[in-house]
Amino acid sequence: MLKGILNYAHYLLEESVHEGETVIDATCGNGNDTLFLSELVGENGHVLAFDIQEQAIAVTRNVLIKHGKSNVSLIHDSHANLSDYLPKDKKKTVGGAIFNLGYLPKSNKEVVTKPESTITALTIILDALKQNGLIVLVVYHGHEGGQEEKEAILKHVLKLNQKDYSVLRYGFINQKNNPPFIIAIQKK
Ligand SMILES: C[S@@+](CC[C@H](N)C(=O)[O-])C[C@H]1O[C@@H](n2cnc3c(N)ncnc32)[C@H](O)[C@@H]1O
Repeated sequence: MLKGILNYAHYLLEESVHEGETVIDATCGNGNDTLFLSELVGENGHVLAFDIQEQAIAVTRNVLIKHGKSNVSLIHDSHANLSDYLPKDKKKTVGGAIFNLGYLPKSNKEVVTKPESTITALTIILDALKQNGLIVLVVYHGHEGGQEEKEAILKHVLKLNQKDYSVLRYGFINQKNNPPFIIAIQKK
């Protein structure tokens, strides 16, 4: 069976992240990916989870409490400031990362991820990533501003040198209404 977008995003991370690693949820939202990463890295691992909305941080905190998870640092800040929070000893050892772009479901649709901050965060994480580590971006682009972000990201990742990175695009091309797709970048 072909995996759906979110299942495939998680599958890619399951294949590449190991227990005990430090990983990043660049857009924690309702906490689904944060919980997934928390379980993936286990008690000895660490998740850095970012969101600019207090509401998203609060919802994610509740999800983690409900599931008894204590290996997550919730950071109420833009992922563009990620290098301020990355422990220096974790440079080049980040196990993986996920970006779920767009707006927080059932919330203010005007607060959306933006191309400049997304690309800044992407660049910081690519530098900090372990060898063979993966960054998965789930690109939603049906909302206002989504098209611009999609185009900026595609333009940026197309320029990544194939000697250093493998870049994959995965999505369903016969779906209506701007279906989301995945961009996965693996560091060689
Ligand atoms: C599609 S939602 C994330 C869904 C989430 N991964 C989940 O599992 O529920 C996108 C989130 O990105 C957040 N966001 C927007 N710009 C951001 C930024 N610069 N830094 C961090 N988070 C940001 C929004 O507040 C929103 O909660």
